[in-house]
Amino acid sequence: MSTNLTAPNPNELVSPERPERTPVKRTVLMCKPDYFTVVYRINPWMDPAIPTDTALAVAQWQTLHDTYVGLGFDVHLIDPVEGLPDMVYAANGGFVIDNIAYGAAFTYAERQPEGPAYMDWFGAHDFDVRVPVEINEGEGDFLLVGDVILAGTGFRSASHSHEEVAAIYGRTVITLNLINPSFYHLDTAIAVLDGSPDTGNGEIAYLPSAFDEPSLAILRERFPDAIIVTEEDAAILGLNSYSDGFNVVIAARAKDFERQLRSRGFNPIGVDLSELLLGGGGVKCCTLELRR
Ligand code: ARG
Repeated sequence: MSTNLTAPNPNELVSPERPERTPVKRTVLMCKPDYFTVVYRINPWMDPAIPTDTALAVAQWQTLHDTYVGLGFDVHLIDPVEGLPDMVYAANGGFVIDNIAYGAAFTYAERQPEGPAYMDWFGAHDFDVRVPVEINEGEGDFLLVGDVILAGTGFRSASHSHEEVAAIYGRTVITLNLINPSFYHLDTAIAVLDGSPDTGNGEIAYLPSAFDEPSLAILRERFPDAIIVTEEDAAILGLNSYSDGFNVVIAARAKDFERQLRSRGFNPIGVDLSELLLGGGGVKCCTLELRR
């Protein structure tokens, strides 16, 4: 028997590459896709000529919903409105931090009625609603990472909305320019994996080719250890995922992203939202975080 066995130093059990991860209970808003279909084209994913299966969309969405419930999330629902097929993408309905709900003002006429519908919901649920002046598509383009807000522009949210958000929340807002029309919202090009402020800058995953050079320089400097996803995974909106700091709900087909998450100590959970991909959205698009 060896005699020089010493008790391991607990601090050495967790390497920096594989930190211990603790899930943080999330509160989210979702919208059942009862009226989901693709009848207009406002992003390259949408083709009204391709038939959609609303019942299948509902079933896939239900799986996402039930996954969140299973993770212990507090899931709120907003009633879908007939004639607003994209309302299922709740992330675009606003941006909510510190109990303040900054409303959305959509780029395209087809989605504009969603703005007031979501603001009505926020108001009825005791959020401090701020009616937006500038065009913005909510958490599709605003992502809280640690204590800063990453803000996308280029296709949807106007860069002036970034100033509006900075003024409302009194937080640093970092503008990032999107350049690929297939990744038209920030949440299609960046995944927030650990937004908690007590882990430094927070952790993200992103697709470099979705950004212009100045934005890439910011991302590289601020997040040197970020996960870089493959074009293949991004091409099925694999980045459009939602993390509670440990569990990361992702597109089931995003296999390399799944592998990278696992190697860093996250618990990836694959969900198939193929039907909602026909509208150009995935897991995160269907999820709006509510921060009281
Ligand atoms: N069809 C919707 C649109 O083009 C999809 C929105 C996806 N949402 C998101 N958060 N990326 O506006």
